[in-house]
Amino acid sequence: MNSQMCMQELTLTIELTKVSKNYGSNSVLKEVTLKIQEADFVCIRGKSGVGKSTLLKIMGFLDTPDSGQVKLFGKEVHKMGDGERSSLRLNNVGFVFQFFNLIPSLTVMENIELPLALAAVNKSKRKARAMELIEYFQLANLADRFPETLSGGERQRIAVIRALANKPKIIIADEPTSSIDDENTQMLMDLFTRVNRQEKVTIVLSTTDLYEKMPVHTDYLLKDGKLQKTT
Ligand SMILES: Nc1ncnc2c1ncn2[C@@H]1O[C@H](COP(=O)(O)OP(=O)(O)O)[C@@H](O)[C@H]1O
Ligand SMILES: [Mg+2]
Repeated sequence: MNSQMCMQELTLTIELTKVSKNYGSNSVLKEVTLKIQEADFVCIRGKSGVGKSTLLKIMGFLDTPDSGQVKLFGKEVHKMGDGERSSLRLNNVGFVFQFFNLIPSLTVMENIELPLALAAVNKSKRKARAMELIEYFQLANLADRFPETLSGGERQRIAVIRALANKPKIIIADEPTSSIDDENTQMLMDLFTRVNRQEKVTIVLSTTDLYEKMPVHTDYLLKDGKLQKTT
């Protein structure tokens, strides 16, 4: 193996070092250290209330730890100004949440365009990118529908596609499969797998399911404030 390959293999996207977070006397994260490599597919498992959302929010710097260090692409997040941090997030991280959070008054297409609108991409480029995505994932038939007319599984797939709009390097998905059935979970995981393999997007997802086999590369269990690698 030459040195360039070696360096490429070691490219880290997210790096947490001794990250702790407390809510009053509740120590949710206790010196959690985690390194996620480029194009990794990571699952964080843990029962409800163990701190999965807290951890994922800190990874996507939607929340700050009480102590410890968060690095994204080798840069320390807390040393950045607010503007730099927001722009880094907007351009590199896509989020998918448990309860879909598509905007009800916008069509599927408009929902997919939303992150692009926030990044001030002009209307024709926005439309082209949204159309490209929805066609690529064979969901163009849903383009003009409103979220309330979609099934839970369809909404969640659209939420993933929306998270891809800005061509992020990382997708953080907090319990994306918790409110959908097994068949839709399978379809959603197929979509994540495709995004991970073909687009080389790093994916971090959480689940309360401690045992279900997932098509991920790296599996962790969060328990008692500690993160334990299980594969
Ligand atoms: N803003 C907050 N204020 C106080 N306690 C919080 C807050 N957010 C989360 N918690 C607590 O931290 C713990 C972990 O929460 P969370 O990260 O949401 O867990 P999970 O996502 O694994 O269900 C829970 O006990 C929760 O009640
Ligand atoms: Mg949660």
